[in-house]
Amino acid sequence: MPKDADAKTAPAHVAIIMDGNGRWAQQRGRPRLFGHHAGAKRVREIVAACPDLGVKYLTIFAFSTENWKRTQIEVAGLMSLFRRYLEREANELFSSGVCVRFIGDRVRLDDKLVNLMDELELRTAENDLVHLTVALNYGGRDEVTRAAQRLAFEVAQGRLDHQDVDAEKLASFLDTHVLPDPDLVIRTSGEARISNFLLWQSAYAEYEFVDTLWPDFTAAEFAKVLKSYGKRDRRFGAVRA
Ligand code: IPE
Ligand code: IPE
Ligand code: MG
Repeated sequence: MPKDADAKTAPAHVAIIMDGNGRWAQQRGRPRLFGHHAGAKRVREIVAACPDLGVKYLTIFAFSTENWKRTQIEVAGLMSLFRRYLEREANELFSSGVCVRFIGDRVRLDDKLVNLMDELELRTAENDLVHLTVALNYGGRDEVTRAAQRLAFEVAQGRLDHQDVDAEKLASFLDTHVLPDPDLVIRTSGEARISNFLLWQSAYAEYEFVDTLWPDFTAAEFAKVLKSYGKRDRRFGAVRA
């Protein structure tokens, strides 16, 4: 059993909207990218904390389908940060037993980044200690739309009967098809919105909004949030006997 966890109350799947990098940098009079670099450093600490906290699945929102609206400098800086991060962290992720996956639309990402993503997925595919999913060019609506397109194609090809399209079938076409639904969604930086993250999958997730900016979000605060999750009563629409 994980060291710090209460096996009954630990959420198996935690999803995090890592928000507040830009404000963290602004508070220090530095460019926004300085905050993104600080934010990237936090990821390692939070991933490393998962096994002892009983978190098997961690999904992190790194770049949304709407984040292309930012300046070219910020977008290019983020893309090169992602590339460098994957290059630098690959060995550590592999040797510490992390299975890495990516969700989101890869079509708009550059080939070099996509190759690194593919390589890391392949290399860590047999790992099972923690399942880290990185949402990159991800949007919940975009994901459901792409799933609907592929479903429609299967129907048009005669491989699928439209009557057989149910919730389970639709979910099997989502980027997250191999993952359980998130139990807990955390957003840092004080914003209380989901910004197009895991719309379908979070139907019954618990939410925790914390004021801390992402570069300041420590493993100790992560543990505290998980503890408060353990006190919640999840009813899934039912009434307790
Ligand atoms: C989150 O931090 C990281 C990304 C969206 C890539 P922000 O960049 O949104 O930081 P704030 O919200 O402007 O402070
Ligand atoms: C959500 O944060 C996306 C990521 C954390 C990657 P944003 O900062 O883009 O969301 P809004 O614009 O405040 O809703
Ligand atoms: Mg933000």
